[in-house]
Amino acid sequence: MSSRYGCSRYRCLAVLCAGLLSSLPAAADVVQDLLDEWRTELRAAGDKTAFSAVAGRTAWYRDIAGRSCPSCHTDSPHKSGRHARTGKVIEPMAPSTNPQRLTDRQHINKWLKRNCKWTFGRECTAQEKGDILTWLSQQ
Ligand code: HEC
Repeated sequence: MSSRYGCSRYRCLAVLCAGLLSSLPAAADVVQDLLDEWRTELRAAGDKTAFSAVAGRTAWYRDIAGRSCPSCHTDSPHKSGRHARTGKVIEPMAPSTNPQRLTDRQHINKWLKRNCKWTFGRECTAQEKGDILTWLSQQ
């Protein structure tokens, strides 16, 4: 009797867990939605260039007057970073190391805007954002 209870309780837990997991926003979905949006924007402007992880990586490491994305996020997206100005710790950017990454579109948009301005002195274009997010989501 008690073992049967135990079994069904476990089964119940397993079902609950599976349900919870599947309701979490997947990074892949959030990223794909954003990429689709930017692609639509670019296509409307007549640009047919596909997003490129290689170009994204290049943009990530591009140094403009001593500033680059690694200034705060370090030379590896798998490592914890540190804010160049405030010294505050920044969790790793790679979703394979930090599954919470790239799961919240507002957070992504807000920080892309802010960080492109800080790093490049201007907002990133839809092409640059798409390239960077393509590369980052594969890390
Ligand atoms: C001056 C420091 C700094 C620089 C330089 C910087 N970032 Fe960030 N970045 C942050 C901080 C702080 C956060 C928000 C805290 C967090 O998400 O852990 C963040 C968050 C992000 C996020 C959100 C990730 C997510 O999971 O939602 C993205 C995307 C991002 N940065 C991209 C970039 C890109 C691209 C560059 C280069 C153009 C860059 N960052 C340069 C400090 C910086």
